[in-house]
Amino acid sequence: MSEYDYFRLKGHTALITGASSGLGKHFAETLAAAGCIVGLAARRTEKLVELAGNIEAQGGTAIVLQMDVTDIKTVDAGLTRLTEVAGLPTILINNAGTAAPASFLDASPEQTADVFALNQTAPWHVAQSLCRRLVDAKTAGSIINIASITGLRTIGGAASYVVSKAALVQMTKVLALELARHNIRVNAIAPGYFETDLNRDFLQSEAGQKIIRRVPMRRSGSMEDLDGALLLLASERSRFMTGNVIPVDGGHLVSGL
Ligand SMILES: NC(=O)c1ccc[n+]([C@@H]2O[C@H](COP(=O)([O-])OP(=O)(O)OC[C@H]3O[C@@H](n4cnc5c(N)ncnc54)[C@H](OP(=O)(O)O)[C@@H]3O)[C@@H](O)[C@H]2O)c1
Repeated sequence: MSEYDYFRLKGHTALITGASSGLGKHFAETLAAAGCIVGLAARRTEKLVELAGNIEAQGGTAIVLQMDVTDIKTVDAGLTRLTEVAGLPTILINNAGTAAPASFLDASPEQTADVFALNQTAPWHVAQSLCRRLVDAKTAGSIINIASITGLRTIGGAASYVVSKAALVQMTKVLALELARHNIRVNAIAPGYFETDLNRDFLQSEAGQKIIRRVPMRRSGSMEDLDGALLLLASERSRFMTGNVIPVDGGHLVSGL
């Protein structure tokens, strides 16, 4: 019996957006190890092909989907293809996201529009496209939005990011409210600081290290720290949980700093 059997994800298909790097890549590997067929979505397909190869080498099944989540046409096409090949996904990890290092006064219209489009509007459309299919098929599902602790508190210098993640937190709750009657659960994970392409330069800087020293657990997260929340929310083990936001942050939120 593998350590993941308790979560019983065999027979499920999951769609992971932003699977080409960072957290999304790890979420895909974890769900595949737990028995899911994984649909890997992003724009850089060469990275997805490499990941799919690794997953298949471990005995999993992965389908590469070229998808720009800000383009509804590619979202719909990707979902249709995944459904044809692997069945309708019942798990969505709404993970693709970006940040712009700019304060409110400095943020350009282009930067702001890009952050809102990717972090706020795209998860809405991806969830909507999948949930309409799930409702039509009378099939239960679990939507997991990757928010951030900055959706629950504020930080300076990344105003559009903070606002977009707060919107994703509220979207999680309102979708949970409207979709519960369709047996679709909607929850979010709010990570603290995990070193990825998104923030590597900052976290390695003196300012970034100063923040990490203030985290009660005195470190940034490692990818595996997210597995418990991910597998709980993806599986039936959380069948009475919806509209929740689970921080995974080494105590960052309770530090008040
Ligand atoms: N790292 C952290 O500490 C942290 C903390 C809290 C929350 N988060 C959240 O976690 C999520 C993943 O971030 P990360 O740290 O793993 O960053 P990352 O390594 O930069 O990954 C971002 C992913 O989003 C994808 N993406 C970007 N634009 C896209 C588009 N238009 N269509 C489809 N995919 C797109 C990228 O793939 P392509 O470029 O190949 O399309 C990439 O796979 C984000 O939502 C982020 O806000 C991260």
